[in-house]
Amino acid sequence: MQHNVLILDFGSQYTQLIARRVRELNIFCEIFPYNHIPSDLSSYKAVILGGSPFSVRGEDAPHPDLSQIRGKLPLLAVCYGAQYLAHFSGGEVAASNTREYGRANLSFIKENEIFFEDVAVNSQVWMSHSDSIKALPTNAVKLASTHDVEFAAYKIEGETTYAIQYHPEVFHSTDGSKMLENFLVKIAEVPQTFTPNAFVEEMVAELKEKVGNDKVVLGLSGGVDSTVAAVLLHQAIGKNLYCIFVNNGLLRKNEFQSVLDQYEGMGLNVKGVDASERFYAALAGVTDPELKRKAIGNAFIEVFDAESQLIEDVTWLAQGTIYPDVIESVSVKGPSATIKSHHNVGGLPDYMKLKIVEPLRMLFKDEVRRVGASLGIDPELLGRHPFPGPGLSIRILGDITLEKVQILQDVDAVFIDGLKSWGLYDKVWQAGAILLPVNSVGVMGDERTYEKVVALRAVESTDGMTADWVHLPYEFLMKVSNDIINKVKGVNRVVYDISSKPPATIEWE
Ligand code: XMP
Repeated sequence: MQHNVLILDFGSQYTQLIARRVRELNIFCEIFPYNHIPSDLSSYKAVILGGSPFSVRGEDAPHPDLSQIRGKLPLLAVCYGAQYLAHFSGGEVAASNTREYGRANLSFIKENEIFFEDVAVNSQVWMSHSDSIKALPTNAVKLASTHDVEFAAYKIEGETTYAIQYHPEVFHSTDGSKMLENFLVKIAEVPQTFTPNAFVEEMVAELKEKVGNDKVVLGLSGGVDSTVAAVLLHQAIGKNLYCIFVNNGLLRKNEFQSVLDQYEGMGLNVKGVDASERFYAALAGVTDPELKRKAIGNAFIEVFDAESQLIEDVTWLAQGTIYPDVIESVSVKGPSATIKSHHNVGGLPDYMKLKIVEPLRMLFKDEVRRVGASLGIDPELLGRHPFPGPGLSIRILGDITLEKVQILQDVDAVFIDGLKSWGLYDKVWQAGAILLPVNSVGVMGDERTYEKVVALRAVESTDGMTADWVHLPYEFLMKVSNDIINKVKGVNRVVYDISSKPPATIEWE
């Protein structure tokens, strides 16, 4: 990726959002913690300093070393970044005595400034800081103000350095993307060449170079990331890519066979391994959610390890790791506390001694989908809802038995097929059914029944970190509930989960 933008992270919740906005302009960018600036900046065309929860006046405030950056590369300082430049370059930053959080409007914009081209006075911006710049740094010129914030934007004469105290990356900054575009494209002249097609072309060439004639093994999950990673590698090295698709017996109804057929149809060199019995054995009697995850993780490693040993001379392991996982592990704050021990179930044992290749490690989820589309992968596969690695085991509360798995598979199939046939599937980020460990009384004909309760869950989200329950139409819920109770033996009651995350989570376990 030859045209690159460097984003320095000071721990703001919005840093990833800056990166996404930059990528939307077809410009490649990378986030680094402020205290790990790459030593070679020759591939970078511009730098953005992000926001931070710290005050520049605080003792523990981040102090980046900008000696390789200031005056040498076009620089845009956002929020904390703008205050940092002011505080340490002859200006003044103090606690603000007016509210500087939320929407504001740019009441003044300096005329003929490229940074504000096509941005009108009164444009709405999003403020989020408690300090404020009281005096500009040396050689700075005011570019914009709001009613409460005199120095909403400034630039430094003699440098290509711009600073803004609001957040252009946030949706509520109406012209935020325009300002980023003005800075990156018009001022810093970064070419807009980062498109899915260009990514595929470059990545295939890079993989060819890196892997050469070596053999690579990859675990397919049926999900978007591992599939796109496989197709990219397949384009680069063909039959030297060995894919393994493990049936853990906890997939959706008929999923193992249909996904396997799909993979074969794509020309992938894939082996389907049905290890259901082994997983059921490992799960027997286990009820604790974390122990279920561990049992499944360990069983998977054993199966995968045994299968890879059958591939002679394999030296690489490919993984579908994506950018949010990478940023998380290098962020200023360090990996955030584990709430559930999941999200890309822990790596493989060291003794496998395989070199790792991760073709998607620089992409966000939506970019993975776009790359998948440019590779010609079936849109239906690319649009599949996320599905957890431990599968239905964490949607069966309590212990796992084959009978329970089958009941849940049937319920889930009615729900998901229903969403598809009502045109609702693509409006939902993730949906599934949960089998509860309680029986309830019902009546069927003249008979009293005492059978299982299932919960349905459908959420809207962008990344699974927060989620809202979806207001599915009552008519749809009524139809699905009837169908489930009539068609799935052993279930006599359906409820709908109306909890948001937080404080609930998406999965029940
Ligand atoms: P929660 O339940 O934490 O889920 O709100 C957020 C997202 O993560 C998925 N999830 C998992 N994915 N292994 C996975 O690969 C797991 O153990 C796991 N637990 C939850 C969940 O389906 C949702 O998309």
